[in-house]
Amino acid sequence: MAVHRLDQPIIIISLRMLIPIIFLLIALAFYHLGINRILGLPPGPPPLPLIGNMLSFKWDIDKVLLSWKAKYGRIFTVWLPFPMVVIGDHKVLQEHVVKNGDVFLAKKNPEQLMDVVSGGLYGLVFEDNSMVKEQRKFALRSLHEIGFGSAALEDSVHHYAQEVVARWKKCGDEPVDVTGNILSAVGNIIWRVTFGLTLEFDSPIITKFRQYQQDALPLMAGPFMMFLETFPILRKFDSISPVKKVKAIMDESNAILKEAIKTVEKSFNPDNQPNGYIEAFLAEMKKREDSGMGQGNFHYDQMLYSAATLWGAGFDTTVSVLRICCLQLVNNPDVQRKVQKEIDEVIGERRILQDDQKILPYTSAFLQEIYRIIDVLPVNFLRLTTQDTEIEGFKIRAGTTVLPQFSMVHSDPKEFERPEYFCPERHINEEGQFIKEPRITPFSVGKRSCLGETLARMEIFVMFTTFVQNCHFSPVNKVPPAIEILHGFTRTTAPFLVKIQPRN
Ligand code: HEM
Repeated sequence: MAVHRLDQPIIIISLRMLIPIIFLLIALAFYHLGINRILGLPPGPPPLPLIGNMLSFKWDIDKVLLSWKAKYGRIFTVWLPFPMVVIGDHKVLQEHVVKNGDVFLAKKNPEQLMDVVSGGLYGLVFEDNSMVKEQRKFALRSLHEIGFGSAALEDSVHHYAQEVVARWKKCGDEPVDVTGNILSAVGNIIWRVTFGLTLEFDSPIITKFRQYQQDALPLMAGPFMMFLETFPILRKFDSISPVKKVKAIMDESNAILKEAIKTVEKSFNPDNQPNGYIEAFLAEMKKREDSGMGQGNFHYDQMLYSAATLWGAGFDTTVSVLRICCLQLVNNPDVQRKVQKEIDEVIGERRILQDDQKILPYTSAFLQEIYRIIDVLPVNFLRLTTQDTEIEGFKIRAGTTVLPQFSMVHSDPKEFERPEYFCPERHINEEGQFIKEPRITPFSVGKRSCLGETLARMEIFVMFTTFVQNCHFSPVNKVPPAIEILHGFTRTTAPFLVKIQPRN
């Protein structure tokens, strides 16, 4: 009897506990298997509560995304940790993100991150969505005014390319890390575009700035910052979280930009043609003040963080592409010989101009292959649909987060045979002509694609061809350095050494 009396409450308690557990398990199963359908999103890998598909996340994410594309279709939903609709198919990107550009104009702004970095949605990547059209239009116009696409800027790029070559030629038989001089050249160009000022070639500002970027980016792209966007309550722990370190680095980096702005302000004359982006911005501020229309979005913070964006977006990206060019040359001696031969025969010793691309098919194929294989941004910036739309039969509501992951196209074996294999020849036809490949879009697609594409393409062509015209790259020992890609917020190659012999 005694045993019986003891057992009864245990059974009742267990039943009482079991019912909510069963309900919880059913709810979890519903969530796991059905949340995309409930929210009207395209299917995708089943997410876990709170962390979504974060367990599958790695910076080299295209392989995982391609396997999900094969399973779920040309568009699918991924939770990182919030839901986003991934488009990594060339035709779908063209039909929707390009043709329907206004629907994909807004970005999903990382509001917490931007608050930490710049005290609000300022700059040129994550500006407030209501000011996108105005600021982007202004930036495109001003960058054109200060020389994008002009012979004067090309002259300046050629000058810095020659400076790099001159320094390499002095290295003799010593192993060379190409990074330092390329950094100085690219840093000088972006400094000129931003401020209209000239730096010493080896200015410590450039190395400091790169160090700040290298210290801040892994923290900014780390899991803590990702969770901060979904759980802003974590801001309560700023003083002990990675936020504290990010803020400290950004303060130091911004101090350099503020000093440069002060220098520009001292010599600024609104009657002159602007020399750099900051002068164009100051001119717009003055125009607004004079006409009494109010400063609107043309205020100091927007000017400062636009300068920060130009630096952040235009510096390491270009350096990474030029470094991988040198590394591929050393690893592919036949390819190097072909580029050298073409440049020797077509250009000889005269100065190379951007226009020469048309008469250098193999060199153009080399660079197109570099753009396909490097994919500087492993995960593209997120867009936010501005109105309801339909993609592949799925109704996508206004305000849905979309990831236009163009790099998936570059690494899809259905698009490019053996995508991991570096092969400029794939862009050359039977007649030896260059085939321009519309599926290769390293600067992204649609109305928020890279603002610096014109400058970046010119810089990379002029510098790379000047390097090959003047230098031969070979391994330090018999075996060339490995092509080891370091993944992070941006992709780059691990440090490597080469020998550089003058060719003339
Ligand atoms: C090889 C060099 C470069 C590559 C591969 C590259 C690539 C990209 C990509 C993929 C994006 C994202 C577009 C999107 O959100 O869909 C972007 C955005 C941007 N890039 Fe570049 N970029 C390079 C150089 C530059 C340069 C030199 C500048 C400036 C002088 C620049 C300024 C920007 C800006 C301002 C944005 C934001 C545009 C917007 O959100 O409207 N980039 N870039």
